[in-house]
Amino acid sequence: MSQIELRPGLADVPVAESAVSYIDGKNARLEYRGIAVETLATESCFEETSYLLLKGDLPTQKQLADFDDQLRHHRRIKFRLVDLLKSLPETGHPMYALQAAVAAMGMFYPARDVTNAQSNWESVIRLIAKLPTVVAAFHRIRHGDEPIKPRDDLDHAGNFFWMLFEKEPSPAVRKVIDACLILHAEHTMNASTFSGRVTGSTLANPYTVISAAIGTLTGPLHGGANEEVLDMLGEIQTIGNVRAWCDDAITNKKKIMGFGHRVYKVKDPRATVLQTLAECVFADAGRPASYDLAVEMEKVLAEKLGSKGICPNVDFYSGIVYKALGIPMDLFTPIFAIARVAGWLSHWLEQLQNNRIYRPEQVYVGKTSAVYVPLAKRP
Ligand code: ACO
Repeated sequence: MSQIELRPGLADVPVAESAVSYIDGKNARLEYRGIAVETLATESCFEETSYLLLKGDLPTQKQLADFDDQLRHHRRIKFRLVDLLKSLPETGHPMYALQAAVAAMGMFYPARDVTNAQSNWESVIRLIAKLPTVVAAFHRIRHGDEPIKPRDDLDHAGNFFWMLFEKEPSPAVRKVIDACLILHAEHTMNASTFSGRVTGSTLANPYTVISAAIGTLTGPLHGGANEEVLDMLGEIQTIGNVRAWCDDAITNKKKIMGFGHRVYKVKDPRATVLQTLAECVFADAGRPASYDLAVEMEKVLAEKLGSKGICPNVDFYSGIVYKALGIPMDLFTPIFAIARVAGWLSHWLEQLQNNRIYRPEQVYVGKTSAVYVPLAKRP
């Protein structure tokens, strides 16, 4: 019988050396390649942040212009990929459509030789550039509309908004979407990143790597939580119900969506930035009741769960911001994926630099030396 100590959920077990991002969970600090995420959210743009994550350093002006240019020129998706999206059930979740489309991209763009740096970089560009197009195309198709072609005169955030609504975002809205993409771009060794690294460690092609990571992100304990937060706020309905709802959830040991984190034991710094962004959006669009509910919930839960280190995570305010921008709820997690693909790919490239296939141990708790009884002798 195995004597290995099991750490459920691999808590505190390092699985790789990584230089992509860093979290100090006690001091609410998140850095991408050493730069605070708050600084990036206000000073940078998604394209520059992606370059930083992928390459390790901020780009020069020329490097950023070239990178941006490559992204803009790879936004279109093949008509057969659009046909594939058209063949999917329109009631299906867009995350599943995204996962299917990304897996299929591996057939349109064979990239089996992951030792080829040039081909890997082309895959990186294609994936970052095309994910927004896939998400927007599926959204249009499921409503019976034709997909809107990407525009190469708009930046990443602005073009995504355009492809969803066929209208350009105001500069304030564009900045909010861009900042949301930056905030979601990377987050150390989370479940989807680990999943991508495990798949990458088999030397699978990058489209398979990213589709595995997308699948992992769909779960409500991970990226799916931002949708559930809005369901929860919908259930609570009024500020007067908040305290009783929280008491009931705590008594019945119900997980409160948008709260808690494996690493942060204080408020997630991304939630703090998102809250500031939310205030900016609401200055224009009006303050939704769900935001007031969320603020009250944060206050009540700080009294009740704060001492246990259960505080708001990034998902608590992101859905409220997206909803205020008119984005449908089931696109919240796909937007997370559009951003996180930059982090997943940075980890994939890092994994390949010093690869060893992941093959962990298990603690066997089953029978041994069991007797095989022939079927004829069994009742
Ligand atoms: N509501 C109520 N209690 C909670 C919550 C919560 N949201 N999160 C943790 N706890 C409690 C647990 O019940 C447990 O209590 P116990 O020790 O008395 O049994 C303790 O805190 C530890 O919780 P775990 O679930 O073991 O913590 P873990 O690190 O495994 O899980 C997770 C982290 C999945 C994020 C968890 O906090 C959770 O389920 N949160 C709600 C879902 C969510 O918001 N997910 C998004 C995370 S951020 C992201 O992926 C982008």
